[in-house]
Amino acid sequence: MFFIPLFSSNLTTNKFGRKIEYLRTVDSTNQEAKRMIDKNYIQSGNIVISDEQTNGQGRRGDKWFSSPGKSLTFSLLIKNEDPKLIQKLPLICGISAIKGIKQLTNCNCTLKWPNDIMYENSKLGGILIEQTKQHFIIGIGINVNDSTFDSSIEKEASSLYSILGRPIQREPLLAFILNNLEQSLHLTLNEIIIKWESYCAHMNAFIKFHNANEIINAKFLGLNNEGFANMELNQEHKIFNSGVIQL
Ligand code: BTN
Repeated sequence: MFFIPLFSSNLTTNKFGRKIEYLRTVDSTNQEAKRMIDKNYIQSGNIVISDEQTNGQGRRGDKWFSSPGKSLTFSLLIKNEDPKLIQKLPLICGISAIKGIKQLTNCNCTLKWPNDIMYENSKLGGILIEQTKQHFIIGIGINVNDSTFDSSIEKEASSLYSILGRPIQREPLLAFILNNLEQSLHLTLNEIIIKWESYCAHMNAFIKFHNANEIINAKFLGLNNEGFANMELNQEHKIFNSGVIQL
């Protein structure tokens, strides 16, 4: 059960999350947001949240697993009216999630490029941004009170409950993430890049990089001025805008 009055009492935004569509179960909140766009039922700033996703979607066609009622799974709709949004969004979503977790729990999570939410070497959250003609659908999943994980991810997954040993309220967590997201939209791309790098745990680290069926050993140098990953391989600097990093 997601208690909307508790969420609303922690929300300080003008627009984000002011209208919330709460479903007990849905295939995927991103899919539901797309259906709502088609029917004109949803507007920029609205949220779709569900206690359970029966077909949660991850990046690169992966499945996203979450425990019903324990995880935070939601989608935020944002109208695409600023050409810089496409570069800013992946970065500010990760930053806002990390800051929201810190504000509520004092737990220091980190970011793994492009926007995995990590605690030490375990993943506790992910972000899937999809685009329609006029909108971005920002899907965020965070393992909050999950205590068991699907066998396919149990080695690398974690939750706030597993880290802190106590249950965490999803309602203020969602409100804090949205408060941060709305505020961060006003930052310049350069300011966002500096913040993102300050939360990244693998700056200047040697990593394995999975890109287009290849696994490359590289040094992660940070983000370039467009927000793409800058890596050093064979003494050359190369820029990537997609891929998966293995720490
Ligand atoms: C990733 O692979 O790291 C991204 C995971 C994104 C999961 C969230 S949960 C809410 C929204 N609905 C989905 O089906 N996926 C995203």
